[in-house]
Amino acid sequence: MSGKILDAGCGPGIYTDFLIKKGFNVTSIDLSEGMLKEAKKRVPNGRFYKMSITNLKLKAKEFDGIFCSAVFLHLDDKEVCTSLKEFSRILRKEGLLFLSTKKGKKETVKVYPDGTKKFIHFYPKKKIEDFVKKAGFFVEESYINLKDPDGDIWICIFARKR
Ligand SMILES: C[S@@+](CC[C@H](N)C(=O)[O-])C[C@H]1O[C@@H](n2cnc3c(N)ncnc32)[C@H](O)[C@@H]1O
Repeated sequence: MSGKILDAGCGPGIYTDFLIKKGFNVTSIDLSEGMLKEAKKRVPNGRFYKMSITNLKLKAKEFDGIFCSAVFLHLDDKEVCTSLKEFSRILRKEGLLFLSTKKGKKETVKVYPDGTKKFIHFYPKKKIEDFVKKAGFFVEESYINLKDPDGDIWICIFARKR
């Protein structure tokens, strides 16, 4: 496989590693220095930058694809819409966006079994799809994943830049 992919909000680099092994040319960004440190350890040959998905210091139409897994759940509506506009700007025409986020209707602080607390923004499927469309994408496929071990349900969307 080939193509230039942005791993947007790469966290510990699990998917960066996967995508590089599949043959893609991957650039990875995250806001957290701790996460970037872990990611660099996991993928020493990776290209990592500290950057927010709401303000991409990247050229227009530079990427063939964007992979954004489990990041929107930490953002508010305004930040999600800004990020989607940025994604649309850096993707070439007909470039592909994959995103996943948690399904629901509330904003909450979730306490995980290990005691960690995180701000989680749950989205209705239609709401996130409408944001994606408004940012200049055509939704090719969207589906719901069954409950994960935390009991949360995930929305997964593949969208093509118009
Ligand atoms: C739940 S982790 C997901 C990591 C990875 N994408 C995955 O699926 O394994 C969420 C990540 O989003 C990052 N993040 C949150 N807000 C961000 C922002 N505005 N810009 C870039 N990264 C952000 C966090 O630092 C964290 O690493």
